[in-house]
Amino acid sequence: MGICQALGAVVVSLLHNVHAAVRSSGATVYLEDVPYFLPPDVVGTLSVTRELRGALTKSPYVPFTVIQTEAHGFNTADLSAVTANYTLVDDVFQEAFLEAIYIHNLVNGTMGASQVHLGNHSNVIISSTCSETLKPGPYFLNTMGQVFEAWRLYSDTNGGFTESTIVNKAGEHSILPAGILGQQKAIAVPSRLYFTKTVEKPLAGVRIGIKDLYDIKGLRTSNGNRAWYWLYPPANATATPVQNLINAGAIIVGKQIMSQFANGETATTDWVDYHEAFNPRGDGYQDTSSSSSGAGASTGAYPWLDVSLGSDTGGSVRGPAQVQGVYGNRPSTGIVVLDHTMSMSPVLDTAGLLARDPLIWIAAAKAMYGENLTMTNSYPSQVTTFDWPTEADSVADTLLIDFLANITNFLSANSTEVNITAEWTEDYPSMDPLSIFLNITYPILIAKQQMPLVRDPFYRDYAAKYDGRRPFVDPVPLLRWGWATNNSATVDEAVANKTMFMNWWKSTVLIPDEETCSQSIGMYVGSSGSTLYRNQYLSPPVPPYGYGLWGVAGFTENPDIVVPIGEAPYNSTITGHIEYLPVTVDFMAPKGCDGMLFSLVEDLYNAGLIKTALAGRSGITGGEILFKRDINM
Ligand SMILES: *[C@@H]1O[C@H](CO)[C@@H](O)[C@H](O)[C@H]1NC(C)=O
Ligand SMILES: *[C@@H]1O[C@H](CO)[C@@H](O)[C@H](O)[C@H]1NC(C)=O
Ligand SMILES: *[C@@H]1O[C@H](CO)[C@@H](O)[C@H](O)[C@H]1NC(C)=O
Ligand SMILES: *[C@@H]1O[C@H](CO)[C@@H](O)[C@H](O)[C@H]1NC(C)=O
Ligand SMILES: *[C@@H]1O[C@H](CO)[C@@H](O)[C@H](O)[C@H]1NC(C)=O
Ligand SMILES: *[C@@H]1O[C@H](CO)[C@@H](O)[C@H](O)[C@H]1NC(C)=O
Ligand SMILES: *[C@@H]1O[C@H](CO)[C@@H](O)[C@H](O)[C@H]1NC(C)=O
Ligand SMILES: *[C@@H]1O[C@H](CO)[C@@H](O)[C@H](O)[C@H]1NC(C)=O
Ligand SMILES: *[C@@H]1O[C@H](CO)[C@@H](O)[C@H](O)[C@H]1NC(C)=O
Ligand SMILES: *[C@@H]1O[C@H](CO)[C@@H](O)[C@H](O)[C@H]1NC(C)=O
Ligand SMILES: *[C@@H]1O[C@H](CO)[C@@H](O)[C@H](O)[C@H]1NC(C)=O
Ligand SMILES: *[C@@H]1O[C@H](CO)[C@@H](O)[C@H](O)[C@H]1NC(C)=O
Repeated sequence: MGICQALGAVVVSLLHNVHAAVRSSGATVYLEDVPYFLPPDVVGTLSVTRELRGALTKSPYVPFTVIQTEAHGFNTADLSAVTANYTLVDDVFQEAFLEAIYIHNLVNGTMGASQVHLGNHSNVIISSTCSETLKPGPYFLNTMGQVFEAWRLYSDTNGGFTESTIVNKAGEHSILPAGILGQQKAIAVPSRLYFTKTVEKPLAGVRIGIKDLYDIKGLRTSNGNRAWYWLYPPANATATPVQNLINAGAIIVGKQIMSQFANGETATTDWVDYHEAFNPRGDGYQDTSSSSSGAGASTGAYPWLDVSLGSDTGGSVRGPAQVQGVYGNRPSTGIVVLDHTMSMSPVLDTAGLLARDPLIWIAAAKAMYGENLTMTNSYPSQVTTFDWPTEADSVADTLLIDFLANITNFLSANSTEVNITAEWTEDYPSMDPLSIFLNITYPILIAKQQMPLVRDPFYRDYAAKYDGRRPFVDPVPLLRWGWATNNSATVDEAVANKTMFMNWWKSTVLIPDEETCSQSIGMYVGSSGSTLYRNQYLSPPVPPYGYGLWGVAGFTENPDIVVPIGEAPYNSTITGHIEYLPVTVDFMAPKGCDGMLFSLVEDLYNAGLIKTALAGRSGITGGEILFKRDINM
């Protein structure tokens, strides 16, 4: 005892003039076995009543609930109604937060104890004397009367995230210092009750994940490469698409996993630096598609996540949306500035969004594209289909044929099937067929544009730091860069082919229209429930040669959106059981018609012809994800 005191005195005097930098990074607690994160920001201070002080001797925090009311009084029936509502709209709130109740009378700012009738509930604070305006919802109070927000922690069980993040009141992002059961990162989400959507903040409280090729100030970016993550310092600016979402009130909950440098990689062998995320649908062992793998998997898997920001150069939003059965868009090229964003090909790169709920998806698109998105709802009375099935000989084809009938019926339109390659040859009989004309256009553009923008500075900076060494690069980007280095075709030549195809397309196939934006709506099959098991050994990668419908939107700069319509059964080689995978449809329109397509989705939704996709094993019926304990974990 004496020694301890003496030592203490010495230490104190030694450190007298030293100010060690200790800062709180928040706390984690369990409330009724549910994990919560308490960000370090104190959001209010309350005087601690005698009853609360008693409760605080038993635990470091008292959970409590803020209720706002405009009524003159408050009774047990009111409390039941509020509790039911909170439970319905918010996954962070639980009844254990009713240990203490803070009632804030909004109208007069005063409400006496005599107006509150909550039976034997003793821990009631009435806000009449308190200057704090706390948003409704669940909180934690400590012995000093400091109030902390309650953020619920979820496990990223499907491996969709590379980093989980937290934002403070100053808007600064940092790494979430928390971990929970699940062998993956913990992600923290704030109570939905803290937020009110307004005209200025249409995304208030909307939880968004960001593909890890967009810079967020204060965080590192990996671009899907471990060496890159460590080589460069944290970003000193935030990419415009992300900033636009933040400005609209969105909460960024983490950075999402992507295939390396946004090149198309297939699980599992292509994914060397990182492991591909897990597709929640069906047997849980289907490829997620890439490159926005984490965006697709987490949007499909997690009810607690609202939106993901991906990027699409040659299908990197559309592919993951198709195989995870969620809404996803490749916008018109150039609709939003892609600063502080890794590039594959500046002439093809776009920022697109994935979501289960089409209305939240559209709200996020409006916020992100701002003045460049004009919603118009005068629709063409013509539908142009590409490779649409004609025989209802499978569940997927039956759904697709039925859906097309619903669309033509809704639009009072006729549909016409167009064979793009045949039409091209008819118009340009002396030219190469599209399979040759566009065969190397995409691989030349992505590799020859990405090398000087990404590879070369990376190799140079890495060599400078590590005595001339080369950093590790996954097989797929390495192969593509190597192939392009050996190929004599130029970017200019690829742009010329792209431009010729685009000009033909907009004068022949999807023609702009002054009144309806487009003379017709283009439709093709996004996914039809087919399998791509992730436990297969693949043949070595080859460059992404060839013409296909996936490439059309990039070459033509058109918007191309994915809409989930149903699911189809298959006999899983993993489970030996019938499972279901998504059936989706792609809609296309001329450049600049994004708003017309979004309006169409809104109207189809309001007409009951399309629905919100569910999180879980199925986008149609939800359900527990196989090989994962509980969807609400
Ligand atoms: C506000 O105060 C006025 C006057 O004291 C009272 O008549 C009225 O009922 C109060 N309104 C509410 C909603 O409490
Ligand atoms: C439920 O709570 C939300 C958020 O406080 C509020 O906007 C909404 O009006 C409430 N709904 C009902 C039915 O009380
Ligand atoms: C109030 O009393 C009832 C009946 O005794 C009991 O079930 C309930 O848990 C009590 N509520 C509180 C908040 O103590
Ligand atoms: C931000 O980072 C970039 C690239 O890492 C660098 O060129 C620029 O000078 C930095 N800006 C500031 C203000 O630090
Ligand atoms: C809209 O497009 C213009 C031109 O490309 C661009 O300067 C502007 O920043 C874009 N707006 C948004 C919100 O990105
Ligand atoms: C087509 O519309 C009908 C009636 O609204 C609906 O029952 C059916 O599910 C729709 N089919 C598809 C594939 O969307
Ligand atoms: C659709 O086709 C029918 C006959 O095939 C024709 O009468 C009708 O005018 C067409 N409608 C439109 C919108 O082109
Ligand atoms: C489209 O036309 C090409 C010839 O250019 C032909 O080979 C192909 O089979 C046609 N596709 C369909 C679906 O008819
Ligand atoms: C596409 O290009 C690759 C590489 O040059 C070649 O091997 C392949 O045969 C080409 N395909 C067509 C249809 O020309
Ligand atoms: C452009 O088109 C020509 C003519 O078909 C073809 O030979 C060439 O390979 C194409 N080049 C690129 C880069 O697309
Ligand atoms: C590029 O050419 C060199 C020399 O012919 C060859 O060794 C290498 O394998 C080629 N790379 C690719 C990716 O084709
Ligand atoms: C699914 O395939 C397994 C063999 O892998 C077979 O035993 C089973 O009968 C099949 N189930 C159905 C419904 O076809």
